[in-house]
Amino acid sequence: MRFIVLALLFVLSPAYAVGPEATYATHGMVTSRSVYASQAGIEIMKAGGNAVDGAVATAFALAVTYPDAGNLGGGGFAVIRLPNGKVVTNDNREKAPESATTDMYLDKDGNVIKGLSLNTIKASGVPGSVDGYLEMLDKYGTMTRQQVMAPAIRLARDGFPLSHDMALQIAYFLPKMKRFPASYKKFTKNGEPYQEGDIFKQPDLAQTLERISKQGRDGFYKGKTAKLIARFMANNDGLITEKDLADYHSVWRAPIHGTYRGYDIWSMGPPSSGGVLVAMILNMLEPYDLGSLGWHSAAAIHLIVEAERRAYADRATYLGDPDFYKVPLKALLDKAYAKKRFADVKPDKATPSKDVGAGSWPKESMETTHFSVADDKGGIVSMTTTLNSSFGNKIVVPGTGMLLNNEMNDFSIKPNTPNQFGLIGHDANKVEASKRMLSSMSPTIVTKDGKPFLAVGSPGGGTIITTVLQVITNVIDYHMDISDAVSLPRFHHQWEPDLVMYSPYAFSPDTAKILESMGYNLKEIQWGRGIGDANSIEYRDGAIYGVKDPRNEGGAIGF
Ligand code: DON
Repeated sequence: MRFIVLALLFVLSPAYAVGPEATYATHGMVTSRSVYASQAGIEIMKAGGNAVDGAVATAFALAVTYPDAGNLGGGGFAVIRLPNGKVVTNDNREKAPESATTDMYLDKDGNVIKGLSLNTIKASGVPGSVDGYLEMLDKYGTMTRQQVMAPAIRLARDGFPLSHDMALQIAYFLPKMKRFPASYKKFTKNGEPYQEGDIFKQPDLAQTLERISKQGRDGFYKGKTAKLIARFMANNDGLITEKDLADYHSVWRAPIHGTYRGYDIWSMGPPSSGGVLVAMILNMLEPYDLGSLGWHSAAAIHLIVEAERRAYADRATYLGDPDFYKVPLKALLDKAYAKKRFADVKPDKATPSKDVGAGSWPKESMETTHFSVADDKGGIVSMTTTLNSSFGNKIVVPGTGMLLNNEMNDFSIKPNTPNQFGLIGHDANKVEASKRMLSSMSPTIVTKDGKPFLAVGSPGGGTIITTVLQVITNVIDYHMDISDAVSLPRFHHQWEPDLVMYSPYAFSPDTAKILESMGYNLKEIQWGRGIGDANSIEYRDGAIYGVKDPRNEGGAIGF
């Protein structure tokens, strides 16, 4: 009898319950970094909206309830699977202002001016999110702007109770906001830090959202909002003008399509490097049976790191805004190229990364945010959005309630000079007027035989790509369910600096010893809550399972 019970447990797909129980749904699912934002998406889908309506509602709500990264003043990417199986992508990445120049972050001797591309008003690219959300809604949504924006407006106007985590986040960044009066005003109660449970109201932001709700893109890119932004820029030595704003448009681009062991991988193309690198790394790994090598065995880690090393080295040279630089996509995504690129990997020795100057690991806390939405018609939205650093450049534009991004730091501001994630680049990603800076954001959808299988993505700068990769290989090669695949500890390598960084518990001491004997430099990370925050969805056993990454708060809500 006992065996029959045990056997029954194995009828369903394996879920080894390392991670928390995934949320089950049959009609709709939203998993995001903020429970209020997930609720906003669900409210809209319950009222009859599809995944795109739900995603746009979630995105606007994140700008209110997760101001670290949710935004109106930043940019991002959405990968959307339509119910007919077609996959489209929206690029709402920020652009350099028209007056930007290649040397704008260097002094007269050609040295980088510390912090200029990161902590100042000059760090901001022209925001793209609002145009992206509205384009998505216009093209593939079914509900009105007023309907999908209502939850965000309500949350901004009436406020919401701050969680312990949100109160801590705001308190942590307050000292950096002190020099910007509108930021300090917005994020304090008359100068006093907010506490857990306080109702956080954002009246200026509510009005900005109202203007967008009433006037569409003109409520942001023209008229009062645009004037507030441009005037503030002009008065403070910033670069963004009313013309920059009026000229901004998100772009619909073809998705990156790769295959891996019979699965189809759909992800974001340039100006993100994310989809290209995920596909390249999977191509290099495909000839090897990772599954039989064992999860996080030294042999498997070796193969994965060597593939990452080669892909990130190509990133530095070949990837940039495709409207400015001819990215050799076809060559990079070719499986034959992957084979050739991997040919010099030695079975038992780490290949030292080429010596191109030392990078450095990020020290400041960073935030981007990924959310995944699914409906019951096969519609899926996998979307990552960001201000770059936590709370962007920490500058709220007076009168708008809106934070500015510091995305200009994602350009290669000088050849071989690491950005805040230690990533380096050259000409392909140099600063140019009206160009989009290279990203690592990798919102991804995986399908099998034309049917939905996974939606995955993450924040984490350069670690986004390797986080997405690990969730995919955990499911496909190690047969984990989505909860385990997302929850288990991760590691990361990005060519330069030549280090393998790993979360506590990711490598056993004897595995670490083997890797070190093969020539690897290992570094256990001591900061933050681990690598990535991959709020993901899996289709399994006829249902939709959502998981919020247990590293951070948030909500996977279904119905
Ligand atoms: O676009 C990029 O790749 C970066 N600006 C993303 C920043 C990020 O993920 C920070 N969050 N953890």
